Amino acid sequence: MAKGLRSVFSVGLIVLYLGMLGLHECNQPSVPGVYIFGDSTVDVGTNHYLPVSECRSRADFRYNGIDFPHCIPTGRFSNGFNVVDFIATFLGFKMSPPPFLSLLDKNKQLPKRMTRLLSTGVNFASGGSGLLNETGRQWGKVIPFGEQVEQFATVRNKISELLGEEGAAANISKSLFLISVGSNDILEHFAYNSQSGQAYITTLMSTYESRLRNLFDIGAKKFGIISVAQIGCIPLMRNFTQTGVCFEPMNEHAQLFYKALHDMLLKLSSECKGMMYALADAYNMTTPILKNPCKFGFNEVRKACCGKGNFNAEKPCTPMAHVCKNRTDHLFWDQYHPTQAASHLAAQAVYYGDHEFVVPMSFGQLALLP
Ligand SMILES: *[C@@H]1O[C@H](CO)[C@@H](O)[C@H](O)[C@H]1NC(C)=O
Ligand SMILES: *[C@@H]1O[C@H](CO)[C@@H](O)[C@H](O)[C@H]1NC(C)=O
Ligand SMILES: *[C@@H]1O[C@H](CO)[C@@H](O)[C@H](O)[C@H]1NC(C)=O
Ligand SMILES: *[C@@H]1O[C@H](CO)[C@@H](O)[C@H](O)[C@H]1NC(C)=O
Ligand SMILES: *[C@@H]1O[C@H](CO)[C@@H](O)[C@H](O)[C@H]1NC(C)=O
Repeated sequence: MAKGLRSVFSVGLIVLYLGMLGLHECNQPSVPGVYIFGDSTVDVGTNHYLPVSECRSRADFRYNGIDFPHCIPTGRFSNGFNVVDFIATFLGFKMSPPPFLSLLDKNKQLPKRMTRLLSTGVNFASGGSGLLNETGRQWGKVIPFGEQVEQFATVRNKISELLGEEGAAANISKSLFLISVGSNDILEHFAYNSQSGQAYITTLMSTYESRLRNLFDIGAKKFGIISVAQIGCIPLMRNFTQTGVCFEPMNEHAQLFYKALHDMLLKLSSECKGMMYALADAYNMTTPILKNPCKFGFNEVRKACCGKGNFNAEKPCTPMAHVCKNRTDHLFWDQYHPTQAASHLAAQAVYYGDHEFVVPMSFGQLALLP
């Protein structure tokens, strides 16, 4: 099991080595742009632009960002960078794309001159959100996946104005669409559900499918999709079971979600001419780490680094929380989210990995397809 991740490690080292030789720098990014959708796993500050009185799903305060350059809390739910930040640099970009909401002017419009949009892409992800519109309501206002897709449509129109319809279509079809969503839908299912597990997964998947069709219809072709991780093992759920074991019913839902997503993508890509995808199995990626933490540089894979109480997971990460000394040896940053160190490993597995954790190809291979 660990073999895959270890070979990912060595490829990562080779790339690092090439980078030091300067071979990496003379390359253009391998895609024209990256467009990112989903939840807090890939949010780079969207919710920071929602009013404090309306949205309680936020990370724009200490100790978030404690390991970010200049120690800035950017709204990322992490001590530093998250998985898409690393993927963006692997693609050859200097920076991860900015949040859509940060680009809007005072009248909540995209400004007329918007060349910045074209240089890296845009991030629409919103912490707390999910596939269903009602997911995340417990936090007040968040931006559901469907609304994120509508926001992309406005960006798409802007790109057409700038590049012309043909240029925009070429640019968009070569760009990478990264999506990480579904965890919050499953987490909330256990709080308020009435439907059976499989029926719920079917509902989620039909929503996922129609959103992907919406994106495809306006020109998206390359989809890099990250499935749901072992959310039954996050510190919040270890506290919930009290004994510290994972909450298995939630993990079972994450596995059902992966299988359904796998099948849906096979079907959809056979129906949509020109659609390409890479699906990352975030669930199985974590298995070798939980089994043998030391091999991956971790000493603590159960407790949160920033929080309070049992498993440091009874309270969210705030300026009043307790923060662990060594952030690189913790798998989890707070009640829900991985540390920067864990995100870096995940990004390597997704981008450079073999077919063990990402099918039918890696994100790196997907990016290079014509
Ligand atoms: C969810 O929101 C999207 C986008 O705002 C909207 O098009 C869709 O009709 C909504 N779905 C439901 C079930 O309300
Ligand atoms: C996409 O837009 C960027 C920035 O304007 C440009 O450099 C690039 O050549 C475009 N790519 C395609 C395939 O049109
Ligand atoms: C993970 O690995 C197990 C055992 O090898 C396999 O049965 C399963 O299909 C894989 N994927 C998921 C999401 O469980
Ligand atoms: C942590 O577990 C305790 C004991 O089961 C429970 O009362 C508390 O609500 C849990 N905290 C969170 C944040 O879920
Ligand atoms: C943190 O933990 C890692 C992994 O065990 C170790 O290599 C590193 O030296 C530790 N750093 C500090 C500052 O203690």
